[in-house]
Amino acid sequence: MNSAVSDTAAAERVSASPPGRLPPAIEASGLTKAFGGVKAVDDLSVSLEAGGILGLIGPNGAGKTTLFSLIAGSLRPDAGTIRIAGESVSREPAHRRIARGLGRTFQIPRPFPLMTVLENVMTASPGQTGERLIANLLVPGRIARQERAEAVRAREILAFLSLSQVADQPARVLSGGQRKLLELARVLMARPRVILLDEPAAGVNPALLDFIVERIVEINRQGVAILIIEHNMELVETLCPRVLVMAEGRRFAEGAPHTVMRDAAVVEAFLGGNGS
Ligand SMILES: Nc1ncnc2c1ncn2[C@@H]1O[C@H](COP(=O)(O)OP(=O)(O)OP(=O)(O)O)[C@@H](O)[C@H]1O
Ligand SMILES: [Mg+2]
Repeated sequence: MNSAVSDTAAAERVSASPPGRLPPAIEASGLTKAFGGVKAVDDLSVSLEAGGILGLIGPNGAGKTTLFSLIAGSLRPDAGTIRIAGESVSREPAHRRIARGLGRTFQIPRPFPLMTVLENVMTASPGQTGERLIANLLVPGRIARQERAEAVRAREILAFLSLSQVADQPARVLSGGQRKLLELARVLMARPRVILLDEPAAGVNPALLDFIVERIVEINRQGVAILIIEHNMELVETLCPRVLVMAEGRRFAEGAPHTVMRDAAVVEAFLGGNGS
């Protein structure tokens, strides 16, 4: 019986990752989530290749953020399965998915306002767990060294995101755009292989916007896969070779941005959703 179980598991692994190719960063299948009578996500499947970038667009209320919450594990789907880097995570809580390399930024960033920017980033360090507290008591010297190394890394990430000058300020002083950058810094601290970005450009002034786009490109160039929700279509066209269009929880279209946006049905879905 054991061998039958492990044979099945082995077969699943093989089917999920053909030889010589990395498995998709994200593979979600048949995801469904209803809130009361509203199907926020309705039998949706999405695949993002390792190291790829996929845009996720659709009108307000289409279910984009809900899809992120299902992938990240902060919401449980009513149906459907999720794999991260070829491994089934459907039954895993959010923190296990983070440990597997899944990062997520929020549509509305909520940093700890009284902690400094650096401290905010440090809270996302992979070692911040209960076990670590116990280890700290047993071998304080080693942990202190690790923590110093993590602080150095946090400062490097802040420099990469042009936040060095506010590193020791409380996070509440940050502008909207800087809060978006802090979100990104916290995600990078956990060494992700795939990042879900929920509207990284919303409310960001144009000067900072170009910088954020440039950093997203650089993060992706370093091999991190990115799934990005964005209403700014110019930004989507710049960043994403491919987009998935959602409407009323469902897959509406998928393809190159300029191709799907020429599609009359897609335009209609957007105008309908915006109530115009
Ligand atoms: N926690 C919740 N409880 C009840 N309904 C919810 C909840 N979260 C989302 N919804 C509903 O699910 C639908 C999808 O919402 P969601 O936030 O996923 O849309 P979205 O595509 O991210 O929209 P936006 O572009 O405005 O951010 C909406 O009808 C919303 O009101
Ligand atoms: Mg949303």
